[in-house]
Amino acid sequence: MAANKSCFLKESSPKMSKTYKLEVKTGTDLAAGTCSDVSIVLVGVNGESEEHRLFHKWSNFISGALTKFTIPGNEDIGELLFIRLSMQSYLNFPLDPWYCNYVNVTCPEGQTYQFPLYQWILKCESVEIPEGKGVVITKNTSPALQQQRKLELGKKRETHKWKVYAEGVPRCIDLADDDPKNLPPNEHYSFQKQADFIYTSNSTGLEVKLNGYTSNTDSWHNLEDIKLVSSLRKSGYSDIVSDIWTEDTFFGSQYLNGINPTLIKKCVKLPNDFQVNDDMVAPSLGECSDLQKELERGHIFLADYELLKDIPANTINEKRQYIATPMCLLWKNTQDQLVPIAIQISQTPEENVPIFLPTDSKYDWLLAKIWVRSADVQLHEVDTHLLRTHLLAEVFSIATTRQLPMGHPVHKLIIPHLRYTLEINAFARTRLIGEKGVFDRALVTGKGGVPVLLKKAMAKVTYSSLCLPDDIKERGMEDIPNYLYRDDGMEIWTAMERFVSKIINHYYKSDEMVKEDPELQAWVAEIFTEGFLDNESSGVPHSLENRASLIKYLTMVIFRCSAQHAAVNTGQFDFYSWMPNGPTTMKKPPPSTKGGTTMETILEALPDVNCTAAGISTVWVLSNEPMDRRRLGDYPDKHFTEKEPQDYIREFQSDLHTISTRIQKRNKTMRLPYPYLDPSHIENGVSI
Ligand code: FE2
Repeated sequence: MAANKSCFLKESSPKMSKTYKLEVKTGTDLAAGTCSDVSIVLVGVNGESEEHRLFHKWSNFISGALTKFTIPGNEDIGELLFIRLSMQSYLNFPLDPWYCNYVNVTCPEGQTYQFPLYQWILKCESVEIPEGKGVVITKNTSPALQQQRKLELGKKRETHKWKVYAEGVPRCIDLADDDPKNLPPNEHYSFQKQADFIYTSNSTGLEVKLNGYTSNTDSWHNLEDIKLVSSLRKSGYSDIVSDIWTEDTFFGSQYLNGINPTLIKKCVKLPNDFQVNDDMVAPSLGECSDLQKELERGHIFLADYELLKDIPANTINEKRQYIATPMCLLWKNTQDQLVPIAIQISQTPEENVPIFLPTDSKYDWLLAKIWVRSADVQLHEVDTHLLRTHLLAEVFSIATTRQLPMGHPVHKLIIPHLRYTLEINAFARTRLIGEKGVFDRALVTGKGGVPVLLKKAMAKVTYSSLCLPDDIKERGMEDIPNYLYRDDGMEIWTAMERFVSKIINHYYKSDEMVKEDPELQAWVAEIFTEGFLDNESSGVPHSLENRASLIKYLTMVIFRCSAQHAAVNTGQFDFYSWMPNGPTTMKKPPPSTKGGTTMETILEALPDVNCTAAGISTVWVLSNEPMDRRRLGDYPDKHFTEKEPQDYIREFQSDLHTISTRIQKRNKTMRLPYPYLDPSHIENGVSI
């Protein structure tokens, strides 16, 4: 075994009798190149080569370069297991980081090995890259490879440590000073994405236009003024929402195809504290005026905001804000539309808690619906969006880095779906839900209420609620017509499960292999402990017994990070830019009697001007994925180098294309289309 020997290699050495031919690919990000020297050591089953310093030329490692080298191959090191790359200063230039995509090595005997990396290599660091074939550790695995994987994980556990964000909440990445700048380099947005994100966040046009609003702590005087600020930016559907927001059919449809499509449940028995009777709903039900029969027929649905009980309300602009815990009863009418038929704004039935009905005065009914929408914003943003996609995706990301080495097939499968999650979450903790963040300036939950709500919501998270088919079944939502979140989501889930199944069955030839894979089991156990806080009652597995359970688990992980996040993220501006459809807070208590509501009292209860502006500018940023996007199933980083998984990827892409075509065709016929689960609009990971 040669050690500590080094020699310079030119780009080509045709006279050498036995040679290795190298192809080295540098990433395409603007800052990917390096002017430092790069060295390589080849490690095979019979030992390792001497260290070869690759020929220095200014263009060898510039952004996007694919450079060929030849190095001597006089020692028989056998089948290659991994390579070791390191960097040294060129002359007296300072070391600068390098983004390496991959290295291909062709042996003297003609066999080519691929070493995919797609990561930054930092100064004074050496990186070992395993050969691209996915390997599950068994007792027959080479000791050298096992050692490489241990060393890799040991290093990564130093840079990716867990931290308690708040009691009862999934743990997050531990950053020095809680500063996103201190993220490990491979977790940062690319230069291009960062630049676009900053531009969108600070978009001068919007900021200037909003300037007059951001310091205004008054109430709105009329709806027309709200329209002025809500239309400073436009999405495809925000104008339509502002036109139809008072319609009961639109209100109901948002539970199926809006931004929070996982709250509603079939109701077979009324809650004890929500005593709606036949007389109340007879005018709504018309010919079907028997409520009990409609319950039995499965035509009655409930949206219950009980989770918001005892959440402390924020103070904004030195004014107390109010949070409500409504219950809303909905009916699938004879035209297969979902419409609200009764609203109680509190969980407790008291004399001063009326049950509001569509037959009440126009403004009484409208205000009751606004209270429900405001409660929905809180649960959507904190539970459905932040907790069940962003924070869980962060757990999956950290556990993957710490427990699954690059050569593991599950690492290769899910790493594209964890791209940039730590960056956006670190941003969210500082700029959105942290001290003086948007939540504190504009949402009733605020920085005080968010951790409390997260903890309550976390206690309710179950494995079945995270798996789409089980979730639909448990909520009794299998049959309701026009539930496009369900229909589109199930098609994607099925295609994803098929893809995952092919990959897993390729690498795991038996259920025993799953059970006995120490890295995989450590990964699942760490997610259970750090993410689900060892909560056995959640039903989340802490170990996996067979291939079927692994396939379901991985489908859940990938679906959550991609499709589920798209379903609850992308439409934020569409539905919330017209503020009365999604008030971030309410600054008057809920009405205690009927008959007293006017448009003036509604405007007094809605968020102040500056809260509205903060909400609109935030959802504008969050609804626009910055550049450097990768849509679902798009894997330009080739972590899998074998033929079979690449075939499976193409089949997955073809399935997604078919789904996309169907959705786009359907959407052309709709007044308010549902594009959020069109695979061509879904990002691979949680990155905004
Ligand atoms: Fe998001």
